[in-house]
Amino acid sequence: MNVYDSDKMKDIFLSHNILPTDDYTKADFVVLNTCHIREKATEKTFSDLGRFNKKGKKGQTVIVAGCVAQAEGELIQKRAPYVDLVIGPQSIQSLDHFLKKDDFKEKAITEFDAIEKFDTLNQIKTNHSSKTAFVTIQEGCDKFCHFCVVPYTRGAEYSRTVYEIEDEIKALVDLGVVEFTLLGQNVNAFHGKDASGNTHSLASLINHLSEINGVERITYSTSHPISMTDDLINLHGTNEKLMPYLHLPVQSGSDNVLKLMNRKHTRDFYFDIIEKVRKVKPDIALSSDFIIGFPGETDKDFEDTIDLIKRVKYMNSYSFKYSPRPGTPAANKKMISDDILDERLFQVQQLLNEQQMEYNKKFITKTVSVLIDGAGKHEGQLKGKSEFNQSVALLGEKKIIGQIIPVEIKDVLSHSLIGERA
Ligand code: 5AD
Ligand code: SF4
Repeated sequence: MNVYDSDKMKDIFLSHNILPTDDYTKADFVVLNTCHIREKATEKTFSDLGRFNKKGKKGQTVIVAGCVAQAEGELIQKRAPYVDLVIGPQSIQSLDHFLKKDDFKEKAITEFDAIEKFDTLNQIKTNHSSKTAFVTIQEGCDKFCHFCVVPYTRGAEYSRTVYEIEDEIKALVDLGVVEFTLLGQNVNAFHGKDASGNTHSLASLINHLSEINGVERITYSTSHPISMTDDLINLHGTNEKLMPYLHLPVQSGSDNVLKLMNRKHTRDFYFDIIEKVRKVKPDIALSSDFIIGFPGETDKDFEDTIDLIKRVKYMNSYSFKYSPRPGTPAANKKMISDDILDERLFQVQQLLNEQQMEYNKKFITKTVSVLIDGAGKHEGQLKGKSEFNQSVALLGEKKIIGQIIPVEIKDVLSHSLIGERA
């Protein structure tokens, strides 16, 4: 979502004829868009800010946006007084207002107003050069998992309207985009209204969007198991534009830990969803997030996570050491020792990597459909993405960038596939 918000801020700058540059030392404006999900991000923010202060051009306007800005606005102003403006993730549209005034003296804008955010952003011209795009359809979270800062930094759950989303997608189609990732912290809790005031579920929205000419692929991220309704599950068996890929974070395989985390479901509930999804789409690629070493996680709890991973078999997943976040209910709980955390993370990552390799190897000699989205690392190479969300490299001419073509898989690397046009 930060990529999406950064693109929107770029659109605002472009609407004021301010162009992007790769060299921050010569830039008139620097915007640091930040993430607060784990601890390291705050320290990284301050080290980046120090660099801007030292090497940035004289008179440079420094803006800190995103969730670190939201949560640590006062600290930023204290530790980095040269920062001109601090804007929270639901206030990025205020950039337009400051550029109009050409005055950045007001120090911190951290209101939660998703309606104003999108009302303003809808008026700004969309620019986009790649074939794939993120589109935020829902923002914020009311679930309050005990480890997570999102409900505090991105605010309450808010769904955009169906017509606003449709307009944005049509504008992106006109710019050549064919693949859309619908975004939300709780994307499957989407409940946006149409022009007649009727509420739509995510499944209904996806059906509607897939009728737009030029939309070839749709996927959505990130979902919560308790909002995985049957209409959405069944859509994976019926809607051909919906990519056969599902990122459904479970965080832990232990009922005790799920309870401590306030995830509001059990491991069996998760297994039931996976079973239902695989029934309607047997070859669906599954992915998850795992938090390792949440306070109170015992050896047995950890074994339950390993067991869940072995039972589900993922195509790829993200795993993180638990990081205490200020203001969350788990923040002051006793931490598990670093040695144990490191060992558990290592075991989980090893298993997930093995599963990814195993999953990918099954594709050798098979043909997948690849959206070619740019030049590869080596001369003459192109890169793209399969419908299962795998990175694919192949030889080919640049003129086919943007096309979806059949590719026969010849070989597998640890995180990508190598193929030839079929
Ligand atoms: N510590 C570690 N990982 C976290 N995540 C969210 N909060 C924390 C935290 N405090 C992970 C979750 C989530 C992903 C986006 O980040 O796995 O799904
Ligand atoms: Fe954070 Fe997701 Fe839990 Fe919401 S559902 S609190 S965004 S982990």
